[in-house]
Amino acid sequence: MRRKLAAGNWKMNGTVEDLIELGQIAGLAAEDGPTVLICPPATLISRAADAARGTMLAIGGQDCHTAGSGAHTGDISALMLRDAGATHVILGHSERRADHGESDTLVSEKAVAAAAAGVAPIICVGETLAEREAGETLAVVGTQLAGSVPRSLTDLVIAYEPVWAIGTGKVPTMAQIAEVHGFIRAELGKMSAAFSAEATPILYGGSVKPGNAAEIFAVADVDGALVGGASLKAADFGPIVAALEAAA
Ligand code: 13P
Repeated sequence: MRRKLAAGNWKMNGTVEDLIELGQIAGLAAEDGPTVLICPPATLISRAADAARGTMLAIGGQDCHTAGSGAHTGDISALMLRDAGATHVILGHSERRADHGESDTLVSEKAVAAAAAGVAPIICVGETLAEREAGETLAVVGTQLAGSVPRSLTDLVIAYEPVWAIGTGKVPTMAQIAEVHGFIRAELGKMSAAFSAEATPILYGGSVKPGNAAEIFAVADVDGALVGGASLKAADFGPIVAALEAAA
């Protein structure tokens, strides 16, 4: 049985007043339900972890450096995330790949650093619209997986996020999601690796909303979601968590 995971990526959104919303999201996390994770901006991680204490809500980061400490102005290490109360970290999100030129190799090195610090990496992959239209989706995702996923990891999560579905309201067909998730599972299985492909949760991300969550979670090899906009409010995230819990 794979762990189900409802993960929220708050991106560059959220100030102290949004901890009220986080408190309500904490109420969605139950011992016998899916893992519920919120990745707030770095400025809120420590306070979010305080707010989540005594609940089942997990808190994560959105990026980390490859080093544990040192002369890297503006960066945050996985050790610091762990110290602030994070259990997970999103790595290689397409916005970081685009905004900061992150390569597969860098993402892989970050994942090694995260795991060494006891923080579970959520490694993101996904094609652009031009790549999908050129019929390159599986080749692109395969290359990203091969380069971004260290074989030494024992515990990781993969998030498939088509770049063109992020923040656009556009979602691939369920057949397209099934094709890529099945491909990812098969590719992970081919890696001679410390982790088990069968035990690795594969999340779908990109315009997941209360209205489409149940349909997406019914797709084979979809073990949860990485949610942006709809994770900011408990009223939106709640039905998504409930749909994941209800999924077979
Ligand atoms: P949206 O859910 O806002 O489309 O964002 C998805 C995402 O990028 C999560 O990491």
